[in-house]
Amino acid sequence: MCAGLGDKLAKHIYGGPDTPKKLRCLQEYLQAFSIALRNQQFECVYIDAFAGSGSRTEVRPALPLLGEEFAEPQEVTTPGSARIAIDIHPPLHSIVLIEEDATRFAELERLAGEYPDRHITVEKGDANKHVQRLCTQIAWRQRKPGMRGTRGVVFLDPYGMEVAWQTVETIARTKALDCWYFFPLSGLYRNAPHNPAKLDAGKQANLDRVLGATDWRERWYEHQILPKDLLETQAQAVRRTDVDAIEAYVKERLETAFKGAVLDPIRLHHKNGAPLASLFFAVSNTSPKAVKLATDIASHILNSGRLFHSRPR
Ligand SMILES: C[S@@+](CC[C@H](N)C(=O)[O-])C[C@H]1O[C@@H](n2cnc3c(N)ncnc32)[C@H](O)[C@@H]1O
Repeated sequence: MCAGLGDKLAKHIYGGPDTPKKLRCLQEYLQAFSIALRNQQFECVYIDAFAGSGSRTEVRPALPLLGEEFAEPQEVTTPGSARIAIDIHPPLHSIVLIEEDATRFAELERLAGEYPDRHITVEKGDANKHVQRLCTQIAWRQRKPGMRGTRGVVFLDPYGMEVAWQTVETIARTKALDCWYFFPLSGLYRNAPHNPAKLDAGKQANLDRVLGATDWRERWYEHQILPKDLLETQAQAVRRTDVDAIEAYVKERLETAFKGAVLDPIRLHHKNGAPLASLFFAVSNTSPKAVKLATDIASHILNSGRLFHSRPR
């Protein structure tokens, strides 16, 4: 816990027993990335597309059996992804923090202000718009003499179905960014109910937007989902895929964009044990040397993440 951190800040209360696992993967990767690229001719950028406030507060339930101190729910505040990235040593050359919520954006500005000598940019607004702009503006593969190319890591950590597939494709096209994507499995379930009578046009559009494909209708449902007026046929269909198959489908989709590599994810869970999200790692660079370096590091981290025990639920 960061002593005193929670008192000063507008609290960003989110996450559950598996959140530390996610943030630990990010921290370990950024640390290894920064060391690995230290002596190479690249600018290193970290893009935190859903940056939050810089810290995370969790309310842990009262544990009366452990004595009076724990008889009340405990608020525990720890660094979030933005602060984790800032604390990496050797420091990343530049950090971009993107956040839509006005209060959390103000906290990020305050956080960046604590480091006047660092190159930290805070952007307010929709992550899709900012990430797509950055991916197309930055000269990733600088060819002018005396200029350095840029390599980096992007973290997509939405609450739910906020990441548009177009954003994923734009990241992949840089061929310079490694991507950690906390993919919302529970958002997928919610939008793809077992009973297709509940699969309204809005849910279908959400799934199309996040997955960048329409073939999930045939792949996940017993019968093709037909337009709304053919309700009889819709009612006969039933979702036959389970969470493993949905996760495998997402990996397949990511592999269509990221030509470097997409690793098997680790799955994170809600308090009640239900699947929450899959943490994917994908490499956009196609150079064999870059792919090997990134996947060696990330595989090791994901494998130890599989063994790392979550806080008790
Ligand atoms: C799960 S939290 C991120 C937590 C953060 N990565 C951390 O470790 O502390 C998701 C954040 O994304 C923000 N958000 C949601 N939709 C967004 C969007 N379309 N663009 C930018 N930020 C968004 C929310 O306000 C929230 O702060």
